[in-house]
Amino acid sequence: MMQSELPAPVYRKDYKEYDYHLESIFLDFDLHEKLTRVTARSRYQRTGDSAAPLLLFGEELELTRIVLNGRELEEGEFSVDKTSLAISDVPDDFILEVETIIYPDQNSSLEGLYRSSNNYCTQCEAEGFRKITYHPDRPDVLAKFTTRIESDLERCPVMLANGNLIESGQLDNGRHFAVWEDPFPKPSYLFALVAGRLVCIKDTYVTGSGRTVDLGIFVEERNRDKCGHAMTSLIKAMRWDEEVYGLEYDLDNFMIVAVDDFNMGAMENKGLNIFNSKYVLTSPESATDADYLGVEGVVGHEYFHNWTGNRVTCRDWFQLSLKEGLTVFRDQEFSSDMNSRPVKRIEDVRILKNGQFREDSGPMAHPVRPDSFVEINNFYTATVYNKGAEVIRMIHSLVGPQRFRAGMDLYFARHDGKAVTCDDFVAAMSDASGVDLDQFKLWYSQAGTPVLEVETEWNSASSKYRVDIRQTCPKTPGQPVKKPFHMPIKIGLINREGRSLLSSEHADGSMTLELRESSQSFVFDHIEEQPVLSFLRDFSAPVRVEKFQSRKELAFLGSCDPNLFNRWDSINRLGCEVILEVTESMIKGNTPVIDELFLQSLAQSLEAPIGDKALFALSLQLPAETTLAQEMAQVHPEQLHLAKRYVMKTIGAKNRECFMRLYEKNSEPHQDHAITPEAMGKRSLRNVCLAYLMSPDPLERDMLKLCEDHYFQARNMTDAIAAFSHLVDVGGQAAEKVIDDFYRRWSKDPLVLDKWFSLQAMSRSEGTLDRVKSLLGHAAFSIKNPNKVRALIATFAGLNHYRFHRPDGSGYRFLGDRILELNGINPQIAARLLQPLIGWRRYEPVLKEKMKGELERVAAQKELSRDVFEIVSKSLASY
Ligand code: TRP
Ligand code: ZN
Repeated sequence: MMQSELPAPVYRKDYKEYDYHLESIFLDFDLHEKLTRVTARSRYQRTGDSAAPLLLFGEELELTRIVLNGRELEEGEFSVDKTSLAISDVPDDFILEVETIIYPDQNSSLEGLYRSSNNYCTQCEAEGFRKITYHPDRPDVLAKFTTRIESDLERCPVMLANGNLIESGQLDNGRHFAVWEDPFPKPSYLFALVAGRLVCIKDTYVTGSGRTVDLGIFVEERNRDKCGHAMTSLIKAMRWDEEVYGLEYDLDNFMIVAVDDFNMGAMENKGLNIFNSKYVLTSPESATDADYLGVEGVVGHEYFHNWTGNRVTCRDWFQLSLKEGLTVFRDQEFSSDMNSRPVKRIEDVRILKNGQFREDSGPMAHPVRPDSFVEINNFYTATVYNKGAEVIRMIHSLVGPQRFRAGMDLYFARHDGKAVTCDDFVAAMSDASGVDLDQFKLWYSQAGTPVLEVETEWNSASSKYRVDIRQTCPKTPGQPVKKPFHMPIKIGLINREGRSLLSSEHADGSMTLELRESSQSFVFDHIEEQPVLSFLRDFSAPVRVEKFQSRKELAFLGSCDPNLFNRWDSINRLGCEVILEVTESMIKGNTPVIDELFLQSLAQSLEAPIGDKALFALSLQLPAETTLAQEMAQVHPEQLHLAKRYVMKTIGAKNRECFMRLYEKNSEPHQDHAITPEAMGKRSLRNVCLAYLMSPDPLERDMLKLCEDHYFQARNMTDAIAAFSHLVDVGGQAAEKVIDDFYRRWSKDPLVLDKWFSLQAMSRSEGTLDRVKSLLGHAAFSIKNPNKVRALIATFAGLNHYRFHRPDGSGYRFLGDRILELNGINPQIAARLLQPLIGWRRYEPVLKEKMKGELERVAAQKELSRDVFEIVSKSLASY
């Protein structure tokens, strides 16, 4: 893992098929916490006519025995180094038995076989299987797995692996065994094993063809009552995939295991998904509305991988978006169908703009299908996942829903059971739809967020309306010039009464333009009155649009665009412009003025009848500082923060009565547990009102009282957290009181303590960095637990934009120290912590130098993991 020489990249163009076919593998685990013995018996058959040696990967393994066709190999008959095992003289068809020893207790990387809360679990994606045994460990080598597990009956009553349980029984010395068989050939990254003291929550699902599937969610006893929502979500996901894609589940059982120590959200291992407990466990008192939606989304995501990922998998890791982009698209659509489509779209676009656009504009920018990597774990990115999903969404728009479904059917018909590429996916879509997607494929190979410039002209004499669109794409590492993209641009034209002027099959009067050229004009006939253009509806392409509309037009669209996404987007754009304008005048030392039109239109919207409460609440939320920062040529975090607060408190003060009235009207003491879109919408509206009521500075006493009551009387976590976050910002006694109370109430619930850590890390108080530092020493904190690291450290550095970017650089130094500490413990998490420093070039000079200095300090350390090495060196490299 640790590198003494500089790690070299792997290139997509170097792909070569493996020289052997792996027919089947039998794995035998003799589980002990300190020392586990793994025996792997595999049957290999040479495929090509080359005499290539058998090359297997292995890391941190202690090799004890190799037996080839029944004969133990002696030293000299094979060669081993830190990462591989090579055997040169092998027959064309042979059985290889390899025995290795691994140390689960000492595995803090959470990759391979490790321990979490006294249970055993595995994480093999992307290249973790090689920490279990020597193996080709590449996604295009598929084999049938049989797994035998042996462990202590007392400590590990439950033993699980992929597929079906075919045998189990007692052994001597208080031990027992179980044998699991997975009938579907799979790559090693989908292997899973779990053993420990777990309870199982059971249900069943009957598929469309009448097969009964046993469903089980395995958790620790104390969490027994928190699985209901995950189970309901799973059943909904199974039904949805049948209804929308005609895809049925293929095994007789489906298991989910929740663990507390996990590097990511969850993992789609065949028939045995392993989840971060954050995405399984809920109860109304302990989980927020966002948590509920998160569980539904991730349960859906992992379940959908059974077809998009498992049945059809990736040829190599450069094709990661083949399964991830497609599966994110599927989980987004699932959540849209289960809840509110416009609300879901707004949230997904916010994630895209904040995370992916930022990535795309910095030194780590890479295509949806990267051309090279040093460490694949660094490429589980917003680009591969979220932009990848946008690329699928654009195909969906370009070919239309029916032909998209035909394309999916063809994709499965052609590639079921195979390891394929993004080209294969696009070919299926294009063949089934008859739509030429050749130019479209540039979305897979060109990095960077395209920028659109729009100009419009209405000619009253000819009744023609013209929309001119010009596209460019900024340079990204290794890609100085770009070709124009093919993209769907969904638009509407509306008149002054808000009526749609286009004849369209869509209820909101939309039509889709196809942009292919770097500059293109679209002309509309019979437009008898001056229209307002509603551009890029539903965010139909992942691009930036340069300002081309007046604030008056934006305000107008914000009040009546029939497309609900664009209604929000217009208000959001307006809010962005206004805050950035205030920021600019603060930087120049001028007295800031807030655009009257903006204030007026916001005030009007508060008086107008409210349609969807969740949507209205979203439109009242001002954009995050991290998102606003991307729009600044040079980022000044302090002025940006002060500007946003100034805008916020001005709105709060001017509309105090309105917010108060809405706040009171939306209290719902009787139904405070419902997880329906209506109840969630009501809560988010009420909590946005609370935020405005709490914005004045200094704060009125009765508002403080209101917020404290909100906290102490809350019956659900959404409300408790909303009030808690403001009280933490207030600081002093008001903060200490609730910080103590919250801790005492929830000291036994690790997931709720994550919220406690993050909310303190988010505080805008002056002393936040010191508090974060002292929380590192709190009994409930552990640097080895990724959820805790994300809650405290990543939240502070990534989301508390103002307090992290301290002019003295102490925020950066703090982060650098944590990265170096984690580098030896969990390189994946260490590398992710670098994210807030990657965009250093765009900050004001004093900060920029200090950010760079911190990156250089990290880069200069010896023994950097590949993960951290790749990110620091790419961040510092010029391009
Ligand atoms: N395939 C997982 C997903 O659903 C991602 C994942 C889970 C992962 N754990 C991981 C990736 C560990 C790398 C390392 O998206
Ligand atoms: Zn996934």
